[in-house]
Amino acid sequence: MAVTHGTPGAEDPVVRLEGIGKSFFGVPVLRGVDLSLHAGEVHALVGENGAGKSTLLKVLAGVHRPDSGRIVVRDEEISFASPRDAQAAGIAIIHQEFTLLEHRTVAENVLLGREPVRRGQVDRRALEAETRRLLDWLGEDGIEPGTEVARLSVARKQVVEIVKALSADARVLAMDEPTAALADNEVELLYGLVRRLRDRGIAILYVSHRMREVFDLSSRITVLKDGAFVTCAPTADLDTDQVVRHMVGRPLEALYPERASRPGAVRIALRGAGNERVRNLTFEVRAGEIVGLAGLQGSGRSAIARAIWGIEPFTTGTVELDGVPTRVTGPRTAVRKGIGYVTEDRKGEGLALRQSVRDNTLLVRRAACRGAAARQAADLTRLLGEVGVVARGPHQEVRYLSGGNQQKVVLGKWLAVRPRVLIVDEPTRGVDVGAKQALYRLLRELADDGMAILMISSELPELIGMSDRILVMHEGALAGELPAGADEETVMALATGHGTAA
Ligand SMILES: Nc1ncnc2c1ncn2[C@@H]1O[C@H](COP(=O)(O)OP(=O)(O)OP(=O)(O)O)[C@@H](O)[C@H]1O
Ligand SMILES: [Mg+2]
Repeated sequence: MAVTHGTPGAEDPVVRLEGIGKSFFGVPVLRGVDLSLHAGEVHALVGENGAGKSTLLKVLAGVHRPDSGRIVVRDEEISFASPRDAQAAGIAIIHQEFTLLEHRTVAENVLLGREPVRRGQVDRRALEAETRRLLDWLGEDGIEPGTEVARLSVARKQVVEIVKALSADARVLAMDEPTAALADNEVELLYGLVRRLRDRGIAILYVSHRMREVFDLSSRITVLKDGAFVTCAPTADLDTDQVVRHMVGRPLEALYPERASRPGAVRIALRGAGNERVRNLTFEVRAGEIVGLAGLQGSGRSAIARAIWGIEPFTTGTVELDGVPTRVTGPRTAVRKGIGYVTEDRKGEGLALRQSVRDNTLLVRRAACRGAAARQAADLTRLLGEVGVVARGPHQEVRYLSGGNQQKVVLGKWLAVRPRVLIVDEPTRGVDVGAKQALYRLLRELADDGMAILMISSELPELIGMSDRILVMHEGALAGELPAGADEETVMALATGHGTAA
């Protein structure tokens, strides 16, 4: 029995999904899925990219109407014509993408469309007081109702998103990869909130690709595969290997590939490089190497990537490519000089959502090489196979792909030009374990082929598992360098400004 918090009547599920089926364009995406949610439980929903998790959440939230099956809320069968109906039934959802209005205040966002009115005007005092009450109830005293959302950290925005979702008296909260955009140190903030909500009797459905998180938070786990229900069991009865096997359909051997045998010549070198955000950076990345870049959110990891790629160039020091001092003044030069950059923000910078998989993949190659060097589109299929993109075909629009598959397209785009230096920023965000393994192998193969790879990741196990060396950033400067296989504590000590490199 999953319920441990003694909420009255908690034995009956708050919501039951029974035999849910859903097709898009005649293709079945959910096939007879069952799921029940109890008050005071965190129920994890896991599965590979495209397994149907987000679709199931959207059925629960009234965004999609199921083609078959029943939704039962407190013993009453209900059909939702819109998200509003689901909201009225006490069901709130946090989608995979943020929905907040950046230039409005916390309070304006939380009560958007439901603002208290006095004499025909929005009552700002009541608005902020009501938001304050909600924040207090959740034990979130670090957020001011009057603050503009744009000024909050990603983690705090996530909290506001949750407060907003709950403000309509939700009993059920469905969260779609809520930590995907968070750094390791910010995840704790969210964990605390999820636990408090659970303790207040909210039923939580939690979608995540991070196994550690699933095991830390949930009391039950449901696995979906190819749109079908595979199993549901108490978390205590499962281990990571079992869950992965259920998800992938086979045991997954070594997640991380073997490291490089011997690195080659220096491909990129920074000598005393700096700008407004980072200072005095001196390091090299050799052909065949994957160098990890660790650090807290805001420590300057992405700033390094952006500077190397010429978005916000270095203003001091030098950058050498294959031994030649080089000035990269913008992304176009960067691409011409053979530097690739997989950004952390795939929606904002990485993809043209309304274009096809094919066009996205060829985007950089077209910009980089006019004619001559461009290989034929014939090897596009091979390329997409290499990155493991699951799409209905090269002409499918990217916005219809699942989150993880979009990430693979971003990587595929760079593979099409085979850069000398590849910077990857959070490359596996939202990617399922099976696909992660494939992406790791791919990155290692590229390195073995002579590419120099700089990898930024907030998931420490991944960074440690993949890197030949780890550079740790702290407040805009290098705090130290660690060898392959360093432990998480040592990385975190450097990242937080304590400890020294070995
Ligand atoms: N609006 C839509 N139109 C067409 N196909 C869709 C639509 N939404 C989802 N799909 C397809 O349904 C399948 C399931 O997608 P869904 O987003 O539910 O997967 P997921 O389990 O959430 O994956 P991920 O872990 O990558 O987020 C995918 O094949 C996806 O391409
Ligand atoms: Mg999803």
